[in-house]
Amino acid sequence: MSRADGRRYARVAGTGSYVPERILDNAHFERLVKTNDAWIRKRTGIERRHVVAPGETTLDMCEQAARRALEAAGWEPGSLDLIIVGTTTPDLVFPNMGVLLQERIGAGPCTAFSLEAACAGFVYALNLAETMISGGRARRALVVGGEMLSRITDYGDRSTCILFGDGAGAVTLEAAGEPGVLAVRTGADGRYQHLLHTTSGIGRHFDRLIHEGHYIRMQGSEVFRKAVSVLTELAVALVNDAGLAPGDLDWLVPHQANIRIIQAIAEKLSLPEEKIIVTIAEHGNTSTASVPLALDVGIRSGRIRRGQTVLCAAFGGGFTWGGALFRY
Ligand code: UT7
Repeated sequence: MSRADGRRYARVAGTGSYVPERILDNAHFERLVKTNDAWIRKRTGIERRHVVAPGETTLDMCEQAARRALEAAGWEPGSLDLIIVGTTTPDLVFPNMGVLLQERIGAGPCTAFSLEAACAGFVYALNLAETMISGGRARRALVVGGEMLSRITDYGDRSTCILFGDGAGAVTLEAAGEPGVLAVRTGADGRYQHLLHTTSGIGRHFDRLIHEGHYIRMQGSEVFRKAVSVLTELAVALVNDAGLAPGDLDWLVPHQANIRIIQAIAEKLSLPEEKIIVTIAEHGNTSTASVPLALDVGIRSGRIRRGQTVLCAAFGGGFTWGGALFRY
């Protein structure tokens, strides 16, 4: 499809990702809580997850992913005019992670900020970057999702601790005469916040944050059901928005929360598994980093090729959700 129609679009120039060296396999959790490797594999699809080394932070991981995405695009950091970092685990409340990353990679004084939309944060950030590029307010954007969920995981809670990992993924987006991004949708429903949330923050239970820690809490099976229905509806809506049919999709890059969620969506969309990028066995659930990490794995492994259509979709705490359909 050619759309040299005088409009301005955003296209993916390059991708990058990073996961820490340290690996926690399922056997590690058998020593911590009442669980076992077979249950974890069968119920989640997870075999291992990467976690930061002492002293390593979200910013360190975002830096590595960003440098790789810049290198893939052949861009100097100084040529960026927009940086957005999605994360729920920033190094600091402020300066924001966009600014910290801007300084770390030596980008110029461009617009730089972070946003928090849980697992959908990367797609929210991509949506903003696409809007700014197509609106003429930016030409070269760096969009990053990074998390050190190991910092907010309760390793005494078997229903959540087995799920989460650390990592970062990044995309460079540039202005182009043809798409690029074909459709984006984001949404949220705060009525469900009690099903997936953190135990404390700056304005709520601050004492708990200081003295007891700050942890993820989830009512997994209810989140599971909602994730399947929202992500399926989102995918169908995006395909329609782009004027395509489900069969036109070359790749689905879903949020990597549970292999059974991914399989349920694929079945509802009649999408064969060869068209789905699945990294959950290796990464676990890395929240905001999950989609850009999987996207980078798909591209660097040579499966996702230029000209192909890619649908990314994520769902998480809030609830928040978001999806993007683009031609790579
Ligand atoms: O990233 C944001 C979005 N997140 C998601 O989409 C995650 C959605 N939820 C899930 O992936 C799944 O609900 C979980 C993997 C979290 C849980 O799997 P489930 O099949 O929904 O299990 P369940 O919560 O219904 O629990 C079934 C049983 C329970 O035992 P009883 O009450 O039947 O005796 C749990 O206590 O499994 C038990 N269980 C475990 N057993 C062994 C829960 N966690 C574990 C565990 N090891 N780690």
